[in-house]
Amino acid sequence: MANRNPTFELTVLLILVLLTKSKFLEALRSNSHATVDFNISCIEKEREALLQFKDGLKDPSGWLSSWVGDDCCNWVGVSCSIQTGHVVTLELKGSVCDSYQENKAAYYRKSCLFGKLNPSLLNLPFLSYLDLSGNNFHGNPIPEFIGSLKNLRYLDLSQASFTGMVPSSLGNLSNLEHLDLSHNSFFGSLPRLGNLSLLSNLDLSFNLMDGMIPEDIGQLSELFTLNLYGNSWKSVISENHFRNLSGLTFLYLSSTNKSLVFNVRHDWVAPFSLSTLAIGDCQLGSAFPSWLESQAGISRLTLSNVGLLDTIPGWFWRLLPQAQWLDLSDNQIRGELPKSINVRVDAWIDLGFNRLEGSLPLWSNVSNLSLRNNLLTGSIPIDIGHRMSIFENLDLSNNLLNGSIPQSISEMRNLSFLDLSNNHLSREIPSNWQGLDKLRVIDLSKNRLSGGIPSSICSLPSLVCLRLSSNNLSGELSASLQDCTRLLSLDLGQNGFFGTIRPIAEKLINVSYLGLRANMLTGSIPEQLCGFPVLHILDLAHNNLSGGIPTCLGNLKAMKYTRYYSSVPPSIERIEFTLHAEFVVKGRQNEYRKINSLLNIIDLSSNNLIGEIPEEITSLTVLHALNLSWNQLTGKIPENIGSLQQLETLDLSCNHLSGPIPPSMSSMTFLSHLNLSYNNLSGKILSSNQFATWNDPSIYEGNLYLCGPPLTTNCSSGHGDSEDNDKVEDEDKSEKFWFYVSVVLGFIVGFWAVCGTLIIKESWRHTYFRFVDETKDKLFVIIAVHVGHLYKKVCRCQKIKVVANKRYEL
Ligand SMILES: *[C@@H]1O[C@H](CO)[C@@H](O)[C@H](O)[C@H]1NC(C)=O
Ligand SMILES: *[C@@H]1O[C@H](CO)[C@@H](O)[C@H](O)[C@H]1NC(C)=O
Ligand SMILES: *[C@@H]1O[C@H](CO)[C@@H](O)[C@H](O)[C@H]1NC(C)=O
Ligand SMILES: *[C@@H]1O[C@H](CO)[C@@H](O)[C@H](O)[C@H]1NC(C)=O
Ligand SMILES: *[C@@H]1O[C@H](CO)[C@@H](O)[C@H](O)[C@H]1NC(C)=O
Ligand SMILES: *[C@@H]1O[C@H](CO)[C@@H](O)[C@H](O)[C@H]1NC(C)=O
Ligand SMILES: *[C@@H]1O[C@H](CO)[C@@H](O)[C@H](O)[C@H]1NC(C)=O
Ligand SMILES: *[C@@H]1O[C@H](CO)[C@@H](O)[C@H](O)[C@H]1NC(C)=O
Ligand SMILES: *[C@@H]1O[C@H](CO)[C@@H](O)[C@H](O)[C@H]1NC(C)=O
Ligand SMILES: *[C@@H]1O[C@H](CO)[C@@H](O)[C@H](O)[C@H]1NC(C)=O
Ligand SMILES: *[C@@H]1O[C@H](CO)[C@@H](O)[C@H](O)[C@H]1NC(C)=O
Ligand SMILES: *[C@@H]1O[C@H](CO)[C@@H](O)[C@H](O)[C@H]1NC(C)=O
Repeated sequence: MANRNPTFELTVLLILVLLTKSKFLEALRSNSHATVDFNISCIEKEREALLQFKDGLKDPSGWLSSWVGDDCCNWVGVSCSIQTGHVVTLELKGSVCDSYQENKAAYYRKSCLFGKLNPSLLNLPFLSYLDLSGNNFHGNPIPEFIGSLKNLRYLDLSQASFTGMVPSSLGNLSNLEHLDLSHNSFFGSLPRLGNLSLLSNLDLSFNLMDGMIPEDIGQLSELFTLNLYGNSWKSVISENHFRNLSGLTFLYLSSTNKSLVFNVRHDWVAPFSLSTLAIGDCQLGSAFPSWLESQAGISRLTLSNVGLLDTIPGWFWRLLPQAQWLDLSDNQIRGELPKSINVRVDAWIDLGFNRLEGSLPLWSNVSNLSLRNNLLTGSIPIDIGHRMSIFENLDLSNNLLNGSIPQSISEMRNLSFLDLSNNHLSREIPSNWQGLDKLRVIDLSKNRLSGGIPSSICSLPSLVCLRLSSNNLSGELSASLQDCTRLLSLDLGQNGFFGTIRPIAEKLINVSYLGLRANMLTGSIPEQLCGFPVLHILDLAHNNLSGGIPTCLGNLKAMKYTRYYSSVPPSIERIEFTLHAEFVVKGRQNEYRKINSLLNIIDLSSNNLIGEIPEEITSLTVLHALNLSWNQLTGKIPENIGSLQQLETLDLSCNHLSGPIPPSMSSMTFLSHLNLSYNNLSGKILSSNQFATWNDPSIYEGNLYLCGPPLTTNCSSGHGDSEDNDKVEDEDKSEKFWFYVSVVLGFIVGFWAVCGTLIIKESWRHTYFRFVDETKDKLFVIIAVHVGHLYKKVCRCQKIKVVANKRYEL
C-alpha cells in the first residue's frame, strides 16, 4: 500500500471549501473545464425528497425507473451542483400526454408522468431549474408551494393539464428569469406578478385566463418576451402596462370576442422596439395605432381582428423593410393598396377579410399572399406570372376580379396553392400549366369560366386537389380527365360536362371526394367506383344517370369501416387553413366547425335511377348522409337500413318505393333529417325514439297508404292520406331544400377536408401559429371547443348564405 499524502488531502479539502463558497470560482471552474476526479453523491434528504416526489406520480412508461439507488444525481432528469451535491435541476419534459390510460402500450414509448406534485420538492432548497412541461397533472391546480422554491430561475409547467388560478405565491420567486405556464387551463386574472424583477420571459399563452392584466406587469423591466396570446382577458391595456418594458422584443396578446381593450394615448411613444408584435381579437381602436410608427425594426406583425376601420396610412408601409410577416386580416380596412411596398424577400402577407378596393397590386418579394374576401376589382395583370414568379401561395378568392386568368401563371414555378374562387373571372382556363411542378391545389370554382379542362392541368405532377365547380365549363369527361389519375379530390359540380362517368371510375381510383353534381352526365353508375379505397364523398346528384344503383356500393371501404375512415385523419390542425378559406360566414372564428371529421356522403338524387335500393348499401355503417330522392326507384326500403347507425340524413323522397317503413329505422338515433315523401309507402308510421319527435307531416306526405301520426290518416280506417297535397307541396319543397342544403354543406367540408389534409403542413396559417407559439396544437383544440358553442348558429348562417347564393330548383 502506498503512503497517503497528507498534502493531497488538505488540498482537496481546501478546494472543496473554496468551491462551495465562491460563485466566482464556480463560474471559473465551468469555464476552464477543470476536471476534478471525485464524485459527490447526492444528499440523502434530497434523495428522499425525490423518491417522495416520484411516489406521487404515475409513470406508466417507466421513465423514472433509474430513480433507485443512492446516487440521485445520476437519476434521469436530475442534476446536482458538482460542488455542493445539491439538486439544482429537475428536467422532466414529457411528450405531451393526454389522458392517463394505464397499461396502454402507447405510453411505453412516450415519456409521460401523471399524478400530483408532492411538496417534498421543498426539500430541494437549491433547485433553480424545474421543467415538468408536457406531463399530465389531471387538471390539478399549480401548487402554492412552488412559490417557495426561492432559488428557481427557470420554471416551465406548460402543457401539463394544470387548471385553476395562477398561484399568487409565484410572485415570491424573486430569482425567476423564465416562467412558462402556457397551454394549460388556469383561469382568472394575472396575479400582481410580485418581486419578479429579473423575469425576462413570461409565457401564459393558450390558457383560459379571463381576468385582468395588472398594470404592474409594466415594472418587469427585464422583460424580453411577453406572451399572453390565446386567452380571454377582460382588461384594459394602458401605457402603464409597458412603462418600464424598454427591452421588450416579442409581444403577443389576444383575447376572445374582443374583450381586451387598448386605451393608450394617441401620442404615446412606446418605450420598446419590437421585432415581433401579434395582437389578435382585441379592441385596438378603429384607427391605425400611431405608436406603431416608432417600431421600425419590426419583422413580424399581426393585427388580426382588432377592429381597424381605417385606410392604411402611408407611414405604415415604410415600417416594413424588415418585414417577413404581415397579417392584418379580419378587420374592416378600407382603401386601395399601394402599387409597390418594400418587404424582405419571401415575405408573407395576409390582408384577407377586409374591405380593400382597387386593383390587385403586384408586390415584389412577397411569396405568400392572401387578399381573400375583399372588394378588389379589375382584372389580374397579364404579366403577373412574370413579375410574381416568386409566389408559392396565392389566395385571391372572394373578390370582384374579372377578365381572364393570365397565361403567365405558368411562370410561377414554385406555386403550390392557387385559389381564385368566387370572382368574376371569365373565358377559358389557361392552357399552359406545364412546369408548375409543385402545384398541389387549384381552386377556380364560382367564376364564369367556359370551355374545357386543359389537358396540361392533369399532367401536373403534384396536383391533388382540383376544384372547378360552379362555372360554365363543358366537355366530355373522358377527354377532360384522361391523365388526372393522381387526384385525391375533384369537384366539377355545376358545369356542363357530359358523357359517362366510366373514364373517371377507371382512372381516378384514389379520389376521396368526387363531386360531379349538376352536370349532364349520362350512362350508368360504373361498378369500378365501388373499389375506390378512400372514397368518402360521392356526389352524382342532378345529372341524367340511368340504370340501377350498383349493389357493390356496399363495398366502399371508407364508408364501411372507421379504420379506413380515420386512416387519413383530418385533424383540425391540418384543415384549418382551407377551412378558413371555405367557411366565410361572419368572421373567422365561425369557420372552424365540424372539420375534425370527414363526412361520408352518397348523393345520387335527381337522376333517372331505376330498380331497388340494394340491401348491400346497409353495410356502409359509417355513412352520414344518403340522398336517393327524385329517381325512379322501386321496391322496398331495405329492411336492415337501421344498421346505418351513423346516418344523420336520409332522403328517399320522390321515388316509387313501396312497403312499410322498416322498424329497424327507429334505432337510427343520429338521424335528424328524414324525408320519405312522395312514394308508395304503406302501413303505420313508426312512433318510437326520434320518430316520436318528428311531428312534421311533410316527411311522409304523398304516400297514399301511410297512416298514423303525424299524418291525420287514422290507421284503423285502412285508407290513405286525404289531405290536399297541393297545399302542402310548398312546405315539402322547403323541407327538402333545407335538407339539400345541409348536404351541400357537407360536401364543401369534405372537399377541403381532403385537400386540407394534404396541404396544411405547409400552409402559411400553420406556420403562422407556429410562430405565435411553437406548440400550436392546443390552439386548434381551443378554437374547436370555443367554436363548438357556435355550431348551431353557424350552421344556420351558412345555410342562409347558401340560400342567398344559389337557387336550387327542387
Ligand atoms: C463517478 O461516478 C461515475 C458514474 O457513476 C463513475 O463512472 C466514476 O467512476 C465515478 N468516479 C469516481 C472517482 O468515483
Ligand atoms: C409568498 O406570497 C404570499 C402571497 O403573495 C405571501 O402571503 C407569503 O407571505 C409569501 N411567502 C414568502 C415565503 O415570502
Ligand atoms: C419583495 O420586494 C419588496 C420590495 O420591493 C420587499 O420589501 C419584499 O421583502 C420582497 N419580498 C420577497 C419575498 O422577496
Ligand atoms: C420605471 O419607469 C419610470 C419612468 O417611467 C421610472 O421613474 C422608474 O424608475 C422605472 N422603474 C424601474 C424599476 O426601472
Ligand atoms: C361577444 O360580445 C358581444 C358584445 O360585446 C356580445 O353581444 C356577445 O354575446 C359576445 N359573444 C360571446 C360568444 O361571448
Ligand atoms: C426584396 O428583398 C431584398 C432582400 O431582402 C431587398 O434587398 C430588396 O430591397 C427587397 N425589394 C423590395 C422591393 O422590397
Ligand atoms: C423556387 O424555390 C427555390 C427553392 O426555394 C428557389 O431557389 C427559387 O429561386 C424559387 N424560384 C422562384 C422563381 O422564385
Ligand atoms: C372588369 O370590371 C371593370 C369594372 O370594375 C370594367 O370596367 C371592365 O370592363 C371589366 N372587364 C372585363 C374584361 O369584364
Ligand atoms: C357558357 O359557355 C358556352 C360555350 O361553352 C357559351 O355559349 C355560353 O354563352 C356561356 N354562358 C355563359 C353564361 O357565360
Ligand atoms: C393510389 O394510391 C396508392 C396508395 O397510395 C398508390 O400506390 C397508387 O399508385 C395510387 N394510384 C394512382 C393511379 O395514383
Ligand atoms: C336523359 O337520358 C335519357 C336517356 O337515358 C334521354 O332520353 C333524356 O332525353 C335525357 N334527358 C336529358 C335532360 O338530357
Ligand atoms: C409560404 O408557403 C410555403 C408553402 O406553403 C411555405 O413552405 C413557406 O414557409 C411560406 N413562406 C412563408 C414566408 O411563410
